[in-house]
Amino acid sequence: MSKARLIDGKEIAAKLRKTVAAQTLTLRNSYGLVPGLAAVLVGEDPASQIYIRNKETHAREMGMNNFSRKLSKNTSEAELLKIVSKLNANPEVNGILVQQPLPTFIDAFTVIENVDPAKDVDGFHSFNLGALLRGSGGLVPCTPKGCMMLLETTLSDLNGANAVVLGRSNIVGKPLAQLLLAANTTVTITHSHTRDLPEICRNADILISAIGQPELIKGHWIKPGAIVLDVGINRKKTKDGKQILVGDVDFDEAIEIASAITPVPGGVGPMTIACLLENTLIACCQQNGVPVPEI
Ligand code: GUN
Repeated sequence: MSKARLIDGKEIAAKLRKTVAAQTLTLRNSYGLVPGLAAVLVGEDPASQIYIRNKETHAREMGMNNFSRKLSKNTSEAELLKIVSKLNANPEVNGILVQQPLPTFIDAFTVIENVDPAKDVDGFHSFNLGALLRGSGGLVPCTPKGCMMLLETTLSDLNGANAVVLGRSNIVGKPLAQLLLAANTTVTITHSHTRDLPEICRNADILISAIGQPELIKGHWIKPGAIVLDVGINRKKTKDGKQILVGDVDFDEAIEIASAITPVPGGVGPMTIACLLENTLIACCQQNGVPVPEI
């Protein structure tokens, strides 16, 4: 059997960003509107600092306004809620995201529920999650949305496919399962209590992992010809002491069995930011009563 095709998230994300940049320019020229994004970081988590910097850089590249805030690790929940409330009230800010994880003394649910749902470009507010469950309207969480775009570029018809999602987080697993369901796949969600995980995975036409366990998924877990999306980004030390990034899937084994697979890095990751920018553009249009462009 030939090796799996690489699903190039970098290239697909770059195309999406190009479209979003063009639509942003049209919005400015036709309506004098400039989408504004506020990414809020509390503390100094190194991975979160990199994610926030990337979000800011790409938003600027889109021609969007940047209202990002970097807050000290001692910021209280009350202080954070006050900042969120100010961003909610600012008409120039169309999208707000509060980077997770938050310090343990801040309740993430309280913060998410205090973001105006119309500006909730992460799609984490219960209003948007409710819309997702219903199957219409609302802002869609970015990583799951990016996964669906990658699948749609890889497989022309998802109808009836067996999709297995590893992980039941609110950020990826649960919303992704809803999108897969809406796309007429038959969905199985697995988690840390699931029995005989390899056997369930072997039944997957589409296997998507978001569990954060380096290279757990081996080649013999994968159905020959399956499509594999790897959301995991894990640090691993090589034998010569170098730090590298690996996914949840043992890539070298999986590439021999699957028909298509995302690399780590350069697979799902770039799609998350591109979808965040798309959500910011959509939010800006909706808040200003302007038609949302076809993307
Ligand atoms: N932490 C990891 N992924 C995400 C994301 O998509 N949004 C936010 N706000 N925090 C995250």
